[in-house]
Amino acid sequence: MARETILQPPGPPDDEEKDLRPQTMADMVGQREVIERLRIVIDAARKRSECLGHVLFDGPPGLGKTTFATVIPREMGVPVAFTSGPVIKAPRDLVPYLTNASEHSVLFIDEIHRLPTGVEEYLYTAMEDFRIDIVLGEGVNARTHNLWLKPFTLIGATTRAGMLSGPLRDRFQVREHLGFYTVDELAEIVRRNAKKLRTPIEAKALMEIACRSRGTPRVANNLLRWVRDYAQSKSDGKITIQLARDALRMLGVDDLGLNSVDRDYLDTIIRVFGGGPAGIEAIAHTMNVSADTLTDDVEPFLLRSEMIVRSPRGRVATMKAFNHLHINPAKRPPGDEPQTRLFD
Ligand SMILES: Nc1ncnc2c1ncn2[C@@H]1O[C@H](COP(=O)(O)OP(=O)(O)O)[C@@H](O)[C@H]1O
Ligand SMILES: [Mg+2]
Repeated sequence: MARETILQPPGPPDDEEKDLRPQTMADMVGQREVIERLRIVIDAARKRSECLGHVLFDGPPGLGKTTFATVIPREMGVPVAFTSGPVIKAPRDLVPYLTNASEHSVLFIDEIHRLPTGVEEYLYTAMEDFRIDIVLGEGVNARTHNLWLKPFTLIGATTRAGMLSGPLRDRFQVREHLGFYTVDELAEIVRRNAKKLRTPIEAKALMEIACRSRGTPRVANNLLRWVRDYAQSKSDGKITIQLARDALRMLGVDDLGLNSVDRDYLDTIIRVFGGGPAGIEAIAHTMNVSADTLTDDVEPFLLRSEMIVRSPRGRVATMKAFNHLHINPAKRPPGDEPQTRLFD
């Protein structure tokens, strides 16, 4: 099997996750349909001795995009180079990756939606015809040269497929959306990873961690690591259900997987704004955090778990949110207006 070539930092992303990252598709849990389709295109490409068509993965963070991008080249026995959208500021930053790509190798671009437009456009011919234009010389001596590349596979990953330009999206032959994992799948991931970490764990504790992992393997791994540390520090290292519950309580992660910021957010809408509707800017000011943090990091899970809804007039807490915080909506004084809060 060919060795992975890493052309420049950041190298394989998420170094600290490397030890728990599945090495092959057989190691991966869930995403069965995605894996089946990928196996077919990989198999067919191999039979034709061609390189795999370009692949785009999209989906929320922590669901396995980078994992797929490392597993695919390994299954194909080809080298891979890693880079990411924010690092590539201009076409010239991309050129070395393209010209160094060996035949049938993989170039992985993480956060591909963050490539500047000029770079996206530069990729069109590289992806379609394996050809780029490079400028040699300067000023009046500058000449554009056509450069042929070796056929390679581009794997792109994005949390925001909608931000990719249509022409770039269309140049990916394989497009896969990664969805959230079931509790059973997460429990299986925790089981395998506890074994990798050589940590004994009770079956009930597996489920406890899985239930609080928000459908996301990365969250499951992080919770597992914390619970393992807790068990090692407080006891003999075996994760019992009681230890798991105590550890997660100390972390502030509740039985639905909400953390303290999530609960603060709900508490703000309910207590300060009478359950809403409340504008995101107003909520952000009250909580003293930026609105971007709320929309990017906090709201997606609360929307998904139906704790809040977005209305044209702002965010509204649902009955589920009232119940979760043990607040009785009926106890609100009639006509209770959203309170205003003063800031310094
Ligand atoms: N299908 C899967 N099976 C087992 N573990 C997974 C799976 N998908 C992701 N993981 C774990 O979750 C972590 C985060 O996944 P990653 O591929 O980095 O997510 P993304 O790139 O989508 O943000 C990985 O390190 C890996 O350990
Ligand atoms: Mg990633």
